[in-house]
Amino acid sequence: MRIDILTIFPGMLEAPFEHSIIKRAKEKGLAEIHLHDIREYANNKHRRVDDYPYGGGSGMVMMIQPIADCIEQLKSQRDYDEIIFTTPDGEVFNQNKANYLSTLTNIMMLCGHYKGIDERIRENYITREISIGDYVLSGGELATAVITDSIVRLLPGVLGDETSALSDSFQNSLLSPPVYTRPYDYKGLKVPNILLSGDDKKIDDWRFQKSLERTRLRRPDLFDEE
Ligand code: ADE
Repeated sequence: MRIDILTIFPGMLEAPFEHSIIKRAKEKGLAEIHLHDIREYANNKHRRVDDYPYGGGSGMVMMIQPIADCIEQLKSQRDYDEIIFTTPDGEVFNQNKANYLSTLTNIMMLCGHYKGIDERIRENYITREISIGDYVLSGGELATAVITDSIVRLLPGVLGDETSALSDSFQNSLLSPPVYTRPYDYKGLKVPNILLSGDDKKIDDWRFQKSLERTRLRRPDLFDEE
């Protein structure tokens, strides 16, 4: 999979992909992540990327020209399955959407800023608008990092244990059960004995019951999802 990210702050997106699982996915050649600095496409003297809104009002708006030129250049090199804009007024992201995006080959992601981006970009280039939750970030970079992380870890071969993404919370519309590791007894705090029983069937049943219990208590809304 190839992901192209368009941003005016590429530095904000360097660190998140230089560690752990995403770093390994890149090293194994399973994911390519390319950052593009929108400012480099601005055709004006001061490399401005924003301007005042038509009709007045507060806040600046990201201009169409630098973004359109950057998108056009990338599109001339390959076909994109989705061109995503991260924005608080988009469809709310979830595991089903991560699963779908992880099946694609080429994704472009545009990070917004200021008051917004010129609507003509959204109307003419963007295929999907995604929010990571009902709160407002200072820009789309962190949202893009979250979405990218959730997609790349799902790519076949990225996680060492092929089954471990399948047992994540949300993959079956349930939260994950609790997990424990050594020591068995930490200052009197003990691990549930069933996990030491060696009986795989009983352990699976226990985990499933714990998942149900936890979901019922914390996220009963998940039972209503399709
Ligand atoms: N940009 C600002 N806030 C955002 C959010 N909640 N989701 C996605 N992009 C955003």
